[in-house]
Amino acid sequence: MFLVYLVLLCAVVHAQGLDISHYEIDVPGQFMQDNLFERSVERSLPTQDLYGLQSVTSSIGFNESQTYAFAFDTKIATSNITLKITIDSRPPSWRSSDEGLVLYYDFDDDLTDIEDTKKIEFRNFEAVLTLNNTQVNMHSFMFARLMSGGCGQCRNNEEWTYTMEISSGSIYFNYTGETLISVVDVDDESVLLSGADLWSNPNTEFVLSLYSDANYTSEVLTQVINNSTVTGDRNLIQITGLQRNSTYFATFTEHLFGSDVTLVHQRFNFTLRDSQACKIIHNLEFCKDVAYAVPASAALVEGAQTVDQLAALYDNYSSSLYVNFDYALQQIPCDTELDARYSPIVTCDDCRHSYRQWLCAVTIPRCSTLDAPLYKLYNQSEGRTDFIAQTIQPPLSYYEVLPCLNICQAIVRDCPPDFGFKCPSTSSLIKKSYGDDKYLDDGDTYLACNSFTFQHTSAGSRTHHIPWILLILCLAVLL
Ligand SMILES: *[C@@H]1O[C@H](CO)[C@@H](O)[C@H](O)[C@H]1NC(C)=O
Ligand SMILES: *[C@@H]1O[C@H](CO)[C@@H](O)[C@H](O)[C@H]1NC(C)=O
Ligand SMILES: *[C@@H]1O[C@H](CO)[C@@H](O)[C@H](O)[C@H]1NC(C)=O
Ligand SMILES: *[C@@H]1O[C@H](CO)[C@@H](O)[C@H](O)[C@H]1NC(C)=O
Ligand SMILES: *[C@@H]1O[C@H](CO)[C@@H](O)[C@H](O)[C@H]1NC(C)=O
Ligand SMILES: *[C@@H]1O[C@H](CO)[C@@H](O)[C@H](O)[C@H]1NC(C)=O
Ligand SMILES: *[C@@H]1O[C@H](CO)[C@@H](O)[C@H](O)[C@H]1NC(C)=O
Ligand SMILES: *[C@@H]1O[C@H](CO)[C@@H](O)[C@H](O)[C@H]1NC(C)=O
Ligand SMILES: *[C@@H]1O[C@H](CO)[C@@H](O)[C@H](O)[C@H]1NC(C)=O
Ligand SMILES: *[C@@H]1O[C@H](CO)[C@@H](O)[C@H](O)[C@H]1NC(C)=O
Ligand SMILES: *[C@@H]1O[C@H](CO)[C@@H](O)[C@H](O)[C@H]1NC(C)=O
Repeated sequence: MFLVYLVLLCAVVHAQGLDISHYEIDVPGQFMQDNLFERSVERSLPTQDLYGLQSVTSSIGFNESQTYAFAFDTKIATSNITLKITIDSRPPSWRSSDEGLVLYYDFDDDLTDIEDTKKIEFRNFEAVLTLNNTQVNMHSFMFARLMSGGCGQCRNNEEWTYTMEISSGSIYFNYTGETLISVVDVDDESVLLSGADLWSNPNTEFVLSLYSDANYTSEVLTQVINNSTVTGDRNLIQITGLQRNSTYFATFTEHLFGSDVTLVHQRFNFTLRDSQACKIIHNLEFCKDVAYAVPASAALVEGAQTVDQLAALYDNYSSSLYVNFDYALQQIPCDTELDARYSPIVTCDDCRHSYRQWLCAVTIPRCSTLDAPLYKLYNQSEGRTDFIAQTIQPPLSYYEVLPCLNICQAIVRDCPPDFGFKCPSTSSLIKKSYGDDKYLDDGDTYLACNSFTFQHTSAGSRTHHIPWILLILCLAVLL
């Protein structure tokens, strides 16, 4: 009985076109910078709950820098403001006569320009910064960066501790330099953005503005970003109606409710594609984590289908294949087998989840127009599955960003051995069906593989628990 379902499952796997003969390594070609901005853009993210505080005590190690933002509430702060930093202790091994810390500050609310700052030295364990009336009234924010010196003979875990107080106004957040919003993908008329943990301060709202020029003078769009204008737990934002092949310059600002304070978190740019080959879909019912451009259908390009219909078509295809797998899984004492083999925390639900992710990744390929060495070219009316070739019928040639290897490794790890799930072994075999960051050359900035997550970099290589096994799915079971 069990074998019957396995055979069924394997038939499904083959139907998905995982025959390795379909995968040839791309001839490395010329590539331009892609429009995928899953790269580090300077960002700020309030990780600590410092909003509204007037005093914090913290510590700083060697050769480090910490940056804080201060909000001046102009309704309260009508006179001088004093920021005082007191060193409570120095590293025990510190022998120098100077304090070892320096304070820098600036008013520019564009955090990306914070390097251009003014300097204050510590004297007698204190740095005091006094801002006069005029300065306070002219600015809503100040940024202060504390930097520590090096100490060749000191031990690594030694640090300075300090207390920072502001006489009026408040310490708004600890600027960490991480990206608050990032570009997930673009197509020929829209951009998909993801804002990670946007609402750590409930008393703010965000505004996304797009400009058509690098000087940020011609604004073409302004959109309020609040928790009802984003979708999913990754806070996805799709901006549509943009011009094909145009570059947009964006700012992401934050407004504090009840004040006129605006903080520019980030500036970034993106360029739309000049081809209709790939179309962004997201918010699918079954493949929930699909949020990227996929091969467009002939019907869509002809205007006979909407993007939502295209998304539903892909989603329906994936979920119809999943039904067979779930049925097969029910036929075996899944949890028992997993308990015997792995830690009890791996459950059949983990297997279902991993299989689902893998299925979505291989049935809903990520599409690009970039000719990158790790991508696979498909001509018009071709695709990795018969479904894509015959039902989607891509009207234009496109490149596939192959799924990340860790998506395959996850099913090997999480599913009962009876399924015989295996991943390809050698890098030449892997490269035919999967991608991985480690196959990028030094200096490459394009997305190596489709991981479903935004931290695609090395997310896969952290799952080292299992020695990953060889070959393609199911073959072992069938033989
Ligand atoms: C601010 O962030 C830095 C890391 O960037 C951390 O070391 C420091 O402790 C934080 N300060 C406070 C007061 O949370
Ligand atoms: C503000 O600072 C100026 C000089 O920086 C000083 O003359 C003035 O007395 C201060 N005012 C208050 C209210 O502290
Ligand atoms: C406030 O400080 C700025 C910069 O230090 C200075 O140029 C300005 O003259 C001061 N204004 C007053 C009223 O003291
Ligand atoms: C800090 O940097 C200086 C030179 O910039 C170096 O000599 C020193 O060893 C560094 N200290 C630590 C603890 O990393
Ligand atoms: C941007 O501003 C600079 C100087 O203000 C000017 O030289 C340049 O032409 C501007 N560029 C555009 C695209 O407007
Ligand atoms: C979210 O923003 C929209 C404008 O884009 C506004 O109409 C709506 O009221 C806001 N919702 C909340 C909960 O603030
Ligand atoms: C949106 O924010 C409001 C106010 O903070 C909160 O009550 C509501 O639960 C949030 N909704 C979602 C979907 O997060
Ligand atoms: C897209 O823009 C680039 C640079 O602006 C231009 O060289 C290229 O010809 C454009 N492509 C199309 C299809 O218009
Ligand atoms: C767009 O942003 C990138 C950094 O993400 C930067 O290197 C590039 O110069 C920007 N392009 C323009 C035209 O400003
Ligand atoms: C969904 O897939 C099933 C089975 O493949 C098919 O019968 C059905 O017509 C599809 N529905 C849509 C809306 O595509
Ligand atoms: C695409 O078509 C061209 C010419 O029609 C052909 O040379 C090439 O091999 C095809 N590529 C693929 C991946 O089928």
